[in-house]
Amino acid sequence: MLSRRRTLKLTAGAAALVSGAMAARPALSVTAGWRPGRIPYGACIRLEPLESEPDYRAALQAHCQQVTPEGGLFWADLRPARDQFKFDIADAVLAFADANEMVMRGHTLVWYGAMPDWTKAISSAAEAEREMSTHIERVMSRYSGKIKTWHVVNEPINDTKASALGLRPNVWLQNLGEKYIDLAFRTAHAVDPTAELIINEYDVECLDDMSAKRRGAYLQLISNLVARGVPIHGVGLQGHIKSRYGIDRDGVFNFASAVRSLGLSVHVTELDVIDDTFPSPIAEHDAMVASRARDFLEPIRAAIRPSIIATWGITDRYTWVPIWYKRRDGLPNRPLPFDDHYQPKPLWQVIDYFCNQ
Ligand code: XIL
Repeated sequence: MLSRRRTLKLTAGAAALVSGAMAARPALSVTAGWRPGRIPYGACIRLEPLESEPDYRAALQAHCQQVTPEGGLFWADLRPARDQFKFDIADAVLAFADANEMVMRGHTLVWYGAMPDWTKAISSAAEAEREMSTHIERVMSRYSGKIKTWHVVNEPINDTKASALGLRPNVWLQNLGEKYIDLAFRTAHAVDPTAELIINEYDVECLDDMSAKRRGAYLQLISNLVARGVPIHGVGLQGHIKSRYGIDRDGVFNFASAVRSLGLSVHVTELDVIDDTFPSPIAEHDAMVASRARDFLEPIRAAIRPSIIATWGITDRYTWVPIWYKRRDGLPNRPLPFDDHYQPKPLWQVIDYFCNQ
């Protein structure tokens, strides 16, 4: 049980201090925001603003120690055709990371989403094994020594409300059964034995009618992988937090503690607060976003020191949230730590606080 609830006050004064300190910084440098012992902060990167907006680049340079391409490593981007590999997006993000002494993470090798149409034709175990192995070998070896952490399997747990929650249907499960996950990790480990290999999942933290079951299924899967000797090193909690439900703090604490007991690390990989139901006034809205993130990060940190706190984007200007969760009042979503003018929001204060713990 998470016994004592530490509170982080999100006062207007403190928020002003954060933005004041940032404004006073003479120049943005690669070491800005970093000191030894801090939990690294990361964000996913979109190529278009990276190439066209100096302020976007500056925000990433000022705050991120780790980055991942938002797309670019998806099958649909990498492999528009079966025999074609296109690395241009991921290469461009890697060049930016390298030039700024940031580490690039790999998202993701095996996922049901963003699959090119040709993969629908995969229809036997042998073919599935061949395609998956070829993909992992080709992609990981290109970035060997550069990408040190891979989200090997993304979103393996089914999200239906059916009581028998198991694995999410995808072309790999259909052709290979549950062992597709073992195959992905074993292949990844063979290609780069030094890489940190993690599994990644969402919707396991809320007080809704699905999170507890999904969390249980996720933990069961992870325990099974460890018991089978599968080379898995860490567990990702995406952290796409939904405004309409509170956080199951005890559930999150118990989950992170169980992961720790299995000898695995915990990574916050895609944090953002899906804010479609929060009130319109900006101050209230932003404070609720921040406090919901605090409710999520606090029990994780009480159980284990996460290896990374990464958000899915850095600025409200570029976020996937409105694709699925537009607000009814027509106002823009504000799910990320910096607003659309790159000013820090209370969410940044929360993240910064936990990175220093
Ligand atoms: C999303 C991207 O942000 C979008 O740009 C893309 O169109 C679809 O994927 N969980 C994940 C991420 O693991 O890959 C998803 O990213 C968001 C949900």
